[in-house]
Amino acid sequence: MAYKSVRGMRDILPDEADYWTGLEATIRDVARRFNYREIRPPLVEHTELFSRGIGAATDVVNKEMYTFPDKKGRSLTLRPEATASVVRSYVEHGMATQDPFQKLFYIGPMFRYEKPQKGRSRQFHQYGVEAIGSLAPSLDVEVISLAWSLMHDLGLGGLSLRLNSIGCAADHERYRDALRAYFAPHIDSMCEDCQRRYDDNPLRILDCKNRTCQPYITDAPGSAEHLCADCADHFTKVKELLDQLGLDYVLDPHLVRGLDYYTRTVFELTSKDLGAQDALLGGGRYDDLVKMIGGPDTPGVGFAGGMERLILVLKEREEQVMERRIDLFLATLGDAGRTLALDLSNGLRQEGLSVDLDYRGRAFRKQMTQANKVSARYLLVLGDDEATAKVGKLKDMDTREEIEVALSAEKIVQLIESLRD
Ligand code: HAM
Repeated sequence: MAYKSVRGMRDILPDEADYWTGLEATIRDVARRFNYREIRPPLVEHTELFSRGIGAATDVVNKEMYTFPDKKGRSLTLRPEATASVVRSYVEHGMATQDPFQKLFYIGPMFRYEKPQKGRSRQFHQYGVEAIGSLAPSLDVEVISLAWSLMHDLGLGGLSLRLNSIGCAADHERYRDALRAYFAPHIDSMCEDCQRRYDDNPLRILDCKNRTCQPYITDAPGSAEHLCADCADHFTKVKELLDQLGLDYVLDPHLVRGLDYYTRTVFELTSKDLGAQDALLGGGRYDDLVKMIGGPDTPGVGFAGGMERLILVLKEREEQVMERRIDLFLATLGDAGRTLALDLSNGLRQEGLSVDLDYRGRAFRKQMTQANKVSARYLLVLGDDEATAKVGKLKDMDTREEIEVALSAEKIVQLIESLRD
């Protein structure tokens, strides 16, 4: 039987891996500029962290988690997102006692049992930032500004930032009542999920993608109409600061996000180059989460973005895969040449050059084909004469020029470096 990868979990093959390393480098650079430090929580957590942190009534917890018992019967879950893990780590390691204000970022795989389609998979990768320890509207704006900076560095256009505020826990209560009152006359005609959401958490109805429910959702009241004075003031300041920095946004009164921990600011960045799964990233404030997970009463704000989706957009923009070159190919003729090539490759690689040679006993002509295939910048042919004289000819594969060189790793590196200048 030939094995296949698990549905919704795919290989990232070498040609595509170049996009990933490039994207990761850009994310790290943006995080450095905004002074966010990396954190790497484990992939597996106790199930309760997510059911409590994300909310038992959410689709993520209800339908999408990979949950399994360990050998002692404890319930564990592959992380569906990282905010709960980062907050757990913040509390567990007493970061609050060192410095309650922490700016953190992460990159890594997440797992959700969703129906795979373009831009949606069961193992996917997120990069994300979490700024824990301040209620300041300027921190919401920093996080949004970081997201825009990343998009700018990646050269992406056609994006739209949707923004809303869903207020504090007391506002949620008022908003839930308003939604129940609004949906009451329609709920019997809506989908089964929405009927359940009506009782559990009517905010979730606003995320429903079911076509029969859409007409009822369009006219539903917006959350920003139900904010208390403090939350309304916070939202006004966020908008003012975004205006001040010239960061674009569109107000979306129905944006509530699919996870229960959000309070106040919520946002999503969408791309018109993606199909139905158009959210490049999403996030917001979670002022009650640290406390809910057993830590001190500490606010937080952050976002996470899907890397597969970013790569889809990046690929659509670029026609061909970035070219990958090696510095030097060592083509060999005969045993003495092969021995010399092995010796030299070792030294040259230690000196930092990318070097390759034939390991399959191929004919010289085939070796040349291989050198072209890996886009070698330089070529050295090593045969009996070169092995005896310890001198060879370094060929520039672009200009076809040849330069004589003593066959030691040091001399070859010196020559290549002088040619680069
Ligand atoms: P989320 O909206 O569930 O938020 O996910 C964030 C992003 O991850 C989405 O906008 C999307 O780009 C990507 N994503 C989600 N599910 C999939 C999937 N099945 N396949 C591919 N990409 C996917 C969170 O996860 C929050 N933890 C964000 C956050 C951080 N909020 C505050 N801090």
